[in-house]
Amino acid sequence: MDNIKHFISTFMTAVSNCSLYSREHEAFDDLAKKTHSVLHDVMKDRLELMILENELVVNSTPFRSSGLHKNNIVNRFRKKGIARVDFMQGVSLPEVKQFIIDMSSPDKGLKVYPHIKFGTVDINVTVPEMDGVLEQHSIPENIEKVKDIFHLASPFKMLNIAGIDEVVAHFIASIKREANILKYLNPVKMFSEYTYTHATNVAMISVFQAESIGMESELLREIGVAALLHDTGKMYISNEILEKKDKLDEKEFAEIKKHPFHGARYLAKIDDVPRLASIVAFEHHIKYDQSGYPALRANGRKQHICSQIIAIADFFDALRSQRPYRESMNIKNILALMKKGAGKDFNPVLVDNFIGKIEQMFAK
Ligand SMILES: [Fe+2]
Ligand SMILES: [Fe+2]
Repeated sequence: MDNIKHFISTFMTAVSNCSLYSREHEAFDDLAKKTHSVLHDVMKDRLELMILENELVVNSTPFRSSGLHKNNIVNRFRKKGIARVDFMQGVSLPEVKQFIIDMSSPDKGLKVYPHIKFGTVDINVTVPEMDGVLEQHSIPENIEKVKDIFHLASPFKMLNIAGIDEVVAHFIASIKREANILKYLNPVKMFSEYTYTHATNVAMISVFQAESIGMESELLREIGVAALLHDTGKMYISNEILEKKDKLDEKEFAEIKKHPFHGARYLAKIDDVPRLASIVAFEHHIKYDQSGYPALRANGRKQHICSQIIAIADFFDALRSQRPYRESMNIKNILALMKKGAGKDFNPVLVDNFIGKIEQMFAK
């Protein structure tokens, strides 16, 4: 762990000195180069720094050193809303430089780097009372749980449904306790974290909507589970397509459009997963006017109300998130788009209710 200690002190020295020098200054250049070189020495193939409570965990092992630099890095990560940083093989000097610059700035903006990946819950940790709310509702821990569940799932392995139930029970409890909970649940900025954070956000937003229109107990649980699993079919789609920065071509988009089928089929095979999850996985890209995908056959079948709720949550969270191919959108613009889509893309009653609640929440 001595070399990790060396890396942390070099990195934090660079971060704290960054604001003293101009970006072109030799001294900053030297510190960045040193950080980059020490980073290479400590990395076998990757280095993962994770913040758990107030502890630093390095490559899954708690970092026990009690030095000032360790406290500084924990505080700095928390201020930036970073839960985890992965340095990957091939990380370049310009990336390390930019990362140091970003870490030294007081705002929460983080760039996207090819070889440095973050797990962030974009929490405004500078507002003191929010820390309390977050801890009380264990949002970061729940995201970590969802991540573990998703990491263990594959087309050939079944999901840990007990773990999912536990997470959903937490969501329901949080929503019942804190009326403004969605205020504290912001999207992630890094695509490597997108899958499970998006799932978590969609589940929270869906359970919130369901509760606000009077759905109760078992149905709340089912909609939470279904929302958490709505995109499971994406594990059948290659990462190349899912993380592509440019516009998808026709063939690639056709591939993406298969994820509702894959998800519905996968979930239908698991005994303990509610049937609703399979229905929602199949229907969440169908619009209120029955356009979207997959095409509904002309059998008079209507989209399930829970799919309509989850489609609203899905749209809202997707636009709020920064994706490889576009920036995030602000809430006002998203709500304006949703208003426009009422009756076409979204169930007008549900979307009205949702917009009203979000406006109320964010006006406070
Ligand atoms: Fe989807
Ligand atoms: Fe989605």
